[in-house]
Amino acid sequence: MKAIAIHRNGGPEVLEMIDIELPPPGPAQVRVRHTAIGLNFSDINVRNGGFYLGSGPQFPVILGNEAAGVVQAVGSEVQGFKAGDRVAYAGTGGLFFVDTGAYAEQRNLPASCLVKLPDDISDRQAAALLLKGLTASVIIHRCYRPQPGDVILVHAAASGVGSLLAQWASHLGATVIGTVGTQAKAEFAQAHGCRHTVLYRSEDFVAATRRIAPQGVAAVFDGVGKDTFIASFDCVRPFGAVVNYGNASGNVPPFNLMLLAQKGCLALHRPGFGFHAVTPETRAEACGELFELVRSGAIKLEVSRTYALKDVAQAHAEAEQGRSTGSVLLIP
Ligand SMILES: NC(=O)c1ccc[n+]([C@@H]2O[C@H](COP(=O)([O-])OP(=O)(O)OC[C@H]3O[C@@H](n4cnc5c(N)ncnc54)[C@H](OP(=O)(O)O)[C@@H]3O)[C@@H](O)[C@H]2O)c1
Repeated sequence: MKAIAIHRNGGPEVLEMIDIELPPPGPAQVRVRHTAIGLNFSDINVRNGGFYLGSGPQFPVILGNEAAGVVQAVGSEVQGFKAGDRVAYAGTGGLFFVDTGAYAEQRNLPASCLVKLPDDISDRQAAALLLKGLTASVIIHRCYRPQPGDVILVHAAASGVGSLLAQWASHLGATVIGTVGTQAKAEFAQAHGCRHTVLYRSEDFVAATRRIAPQGVAAVFDGVGKDTFIASFDCVRPFGAVVNYGNASGNVPPFNLMLLAQKGCLALHRPGFGFHAVTPETRAEACGELFELVRSGAIKLEVSRTYALKDVAQAHAEAEQGRSTGSVLLIP
């Protein structure tokens, strides 16, 4: 079967299609034929070796954390799954930059990481939703839950995670301000949860936020990192929350903790989806909530581009340049 691997870190050119022989699933494993694979910004970080790798991986590395598909075979100890079941997963239980392997036609996975898909959620919806939705879920359930009357600032509000956060916060009754890179993204963000948008590459987002929310916002949800993080402190009301969940523009620079006190005794969170909803039961519950948000129309799930798996280098190049909105899928 075919998979996309890297033999060294680097640009999109290091992505290679390889042929591998997949062994039968182990006793606690399920073999899944992928029908849709979610592209995530973290795949780019793993590919280029930035941010997370520490001592570095054992090459070759098959990238990817998220996919949906159909069960082909189950190991001898597996209960609750059978051939033909439609399933999806986001992460396999370990660290997301270690337990990769979703960029493949098929994969053997621990049964414990799989979620069964309801009939009214398509494979493509699941692959577009699970990882980004569980990231929004960890933020809303464990960091700051937007309240009616709150104003919330969401950076990169047209991005995969950002567009889910903006819609979820709006659904909970908050007024959402979204920063975006282009006018087209502003229109996308306004159709996906944002009452106000700020073109943060040409406009001072702190001043714009303070014009809309003079007392400061209740929380800022930031997946951009380096370019937005420190300035965001000036957008938040006293005792408000700063949630950094990503670093699309680069790592957050070291900073003095006293800044949080000086800027209004702010609470700081740095969540990761991999530590949220880790048991099959809690994961099923968290995914069930996401499916219901989609089903009810509270979250409109947008797949801006689908690429054949073999065209993954182009998909990475475009995502890395910030050209996507919503979710991007690879189709084996
Ligand atoms: N903590 C977790 O568990 C978790 C889970 C999922 C993702 N993440 C992280 O969250 C971040 C966003 O993920 P995502 O899937 O929402 O990403 P995405 O859909 O690919 O969007 C990233 C957006 O970031 C903005 N951006 C700002 N500066 C950028 C730069 N220098 N290069 C590229 N893009 C830049 C762009 O929007 P504009 O054009 O509007 O600026 C871009 O479209 C990533 O860092 C990802 O690794 C973390």
